[in-house]
Amino acid sequence: MTGQTLPILISQKRIRARVAEMARAVEEDLGPPREDGAPPRMVVVLKGAFFFAADLAREIRRDLSIDFIHADSYGGSTESSGRVLLSKDLDHDIAGVDVLLVEDIVDTGLTVRTICERLRQREPRSLRVATLLSKPSRRVEQVELSYTGFEIPDCFVVGYGLDHAGRYRNLADIRVLEPSGAGDPVQPQRSG
Ligand code: IMP
Ligand code: MG
Repeated sequence: MTGQTLPILISQKRIRARVAEMARAVEEDLGPPREDGAPPRMVVVLKGAFFFAADLAREIRRDLSIDFIHADSYGGSTESSGRVLLSKDLDHDIAGVDVLLVEDIVDTGLTVRTICERLRQREPRSLRVATLLSKPSRRVEQVELSYTGFEIPDCFVVGYGLDHAGRYRNLADIRVLEPSGAGDPVQPQRSG
């Protein structure tokens, strides 16, 4: 199936507008730059979050440093395996640093929870999570999300970095690969 024919759930235009709003909320929470000059660190969860993180980082009008972590729980299926593998760790220490973890989607919550536990052990100054998408109806692990782009119904989505078995990441819009029933319309979330 060609990705371009899949139904659009969230258009590129809506994504762009929402990412800008999220950036404003992040800027507000970060407050003025620290006196010791240490910039906040964006930690991007590879691979799915890389488009979102690239757009969000450029919208945040503050110095940022950026690092990457790779987590995988999915093989080639659309259901989580329930195991989270951290296959690439951070390159730089985060002790005393304000960390913004950037994820593409929070589904069961297992991935974000596992990563947050690992990061907290390293004693960052603060740790906040920004996710573009959230599927609250699928949550198994409770996770605190500081910034959520859109809450979506229980369907499998691709595009804007999200893949299925390595495909469809480069679609500009977020599209539905596998619907699950009627579902609620997608809701933009107020950041908090
Ligand atoms: P969780 O651990 O169940 O919260 O799953 C989070 C990870 O599963 C995300 O980082 C994605 O890589 C993947 N994932 C969950 N739902 C989707 C989806 O609808 N499309 C693509 N990837 C998804
Ligand atoms: Mg992911």
